[in-house]
Amino acid sequence: MTEYTFETIDKLLDMLKKKHPKAFFNDELDLKKLDEILQNENQIKSGLQWLGKEASKNQALSKSNFKLTPNPEKSIEFNSSENIFIEGDNLDALKLLQEDFTERIKAIYIDPPYNTGSESFVYTDKFSSAKSSQKPENHFESIHSNWLSMIYPRLILGRKLLRNDGLIFVSIDDHELANLKLLMDEVFGEENYIEIFSWVKSETPANLSRKSKKVVEYVLCYQKLKDKSKFKGIKKTSPSSNGLLNQSNAINILTFPKNKVTTRIPDGKIPKGNYGTDKYTIELLEDTEVKAGFFIKKVTLKAKFKWTQPKLDEEIKKGTFIQIPTIKLSPSYEKLSYDEEVPPNLINHKVGVDTNETASKELQAMLGAKVFDFPKPPSLIKYLLGFSDDSEGIFLDFFAGSGATAQAVLEMNEKDLGKRKYICVQLPETIKHNTEAYRNGFRKISEITHKRLSLLHKKHKNSLPKIDSGFKYFELKELENQGTFVF
Ligand SMILES: C[S@@+](CC[C@H](N)C(=O)[O-])C[C@H]1O[C@@H](n2cnc3c(N)ncnc32)[C@H](O)[C@@H]1O
Repeated sequence: MTEYTFETIDKLLDMLKKKHPKAFFNDELDLKKLDEILQNENQIKSGLQWLGKEASKNQALSKSNFKLTPNPEKSIEFNSSENIFIEGDNLDALKLLQEDFTERIKAIYIDPPYNTGSESFVYTDKFSSAKSSQKPENHFESIHSNWLSMIYPRLILGRKLLRNDGLIFVSIDDHELANLKLLMDEVFGEENYIEIFSWVKSETPANLSRKSKKVVEYVLCYQKLKDKSKFKGIKKTSPSSNGLLNQSNAINILTFPKNKVTTRIPDGKIPKGNYGTDKYTIELLEDTEVKAGFFIKKVTLKAKFKWTQPKLDEEIKKGTFIQIPTIKLSPSYEKLSYDEEVPPNLINHKVGVDTNETASKELQAMLGAKVFDFPKPPSLIKYLLGFSDDSEGIFLDFFAGSGATAQAVLEMNEKDLGKRKYICVQLPETIKHNTEAYRNGFRKISEITHKRLSLLHKKHKNSLPKIDSGFKYFELKELENQGTFVF
């Protein structure tokens, strides 16, 4: 066996240090780190590579040390609501959601920190490992690897939660766009890539750069298994509702099924008899009843109608809204139709989507101060989720921030009486003292989310017909504590 001199070993260590400085900590060789580096090097390099990739992938595979613990006091309508807010790290939340929500999510919208390096936001947006005074040895590793290691396991876990027809939308700007595209190609499959949408984030962009004004940022979109269904563009509503009576038709009987017809009539029983006006009569043939803006019993009417019973049944099946707004019991219908065109890949006011500026102003008006940086407009999220909607689907945002996705889901439900559910996850990230949020009494970002969800409930709780605007509030507790929750 060859004996090596100290001099040879020193030379060898010097060489190693030059080639793999990351394998040394305080001038000591870290054998585990060196092994990881060499393993990375030996792999066939396809897709995006960075130091720590394997370790971050393993984070998606390990079990969580936490459990979801309900907090009924912070919840609203805990027993009946199907919306969920989780305060905690989304890596653990995503692991814990697997048990009940694998392949059940219709769409994920996320807006992760963009890694802009800014230290002035209310949330952390700097993932670089280089101190500003240091000249990085490897620019890519020092700027991007921590961010990639953060997002990679979360995308892997998020994908598992999607239904096969499910979609993921990820907001990003040009700091990580190129890396994220490659990473998502790997996690979701290049064959499932749909589009990089450009969203006009500002009508009055800052003039900070000598090279370009930043007007857009991006939304990457993938489907779990890309299918042939056509995305829906702008939703068009018929300008006014149409009456269902036609005085030149013969008298006919129509039965409107229970829980399908909305009304402004207050709660209570409505006895059979003659309704309508002097000009036309409408006879209610059986007693019926109204609760929370709906007829909860079938409504059988005799009058001169435009439609026959089969036509009415078909329209209800297609999702046409039927209303019997007042005690005159005159029914009307409202059709929602879609533009024939699929959505353009530029998202701006032409498709009804607002900017960051509008979103900031609206959030400020809601919360009383500018407590969150660059919230997304709910109109953007509504538009994206509408591309391939399910009015009873579950929608997930695991970088919830101020809770824009929850607002989008509630507003979509209010518009079409849908039963969409939201799941939002937000880290209890500590708020720095020198921020507007701190001055307004917020100590953790999750408190901002909670406040917005509570205000949204206040706004929607009296809407008629009623939509589910409550939420179950969960916290992440370390496993030694007792008690688990089954959804
Ligand atoms: C860009 S903001 C999202 C803004 C949001 N779309 C809105 O309109 O209000 C990113 C959010 O992700 C949160 N976040 C960062 N890391 C997280 C983690 N590991 N788990 C949960 N939330 C996290 C941050 O605290 C921040 O609130």
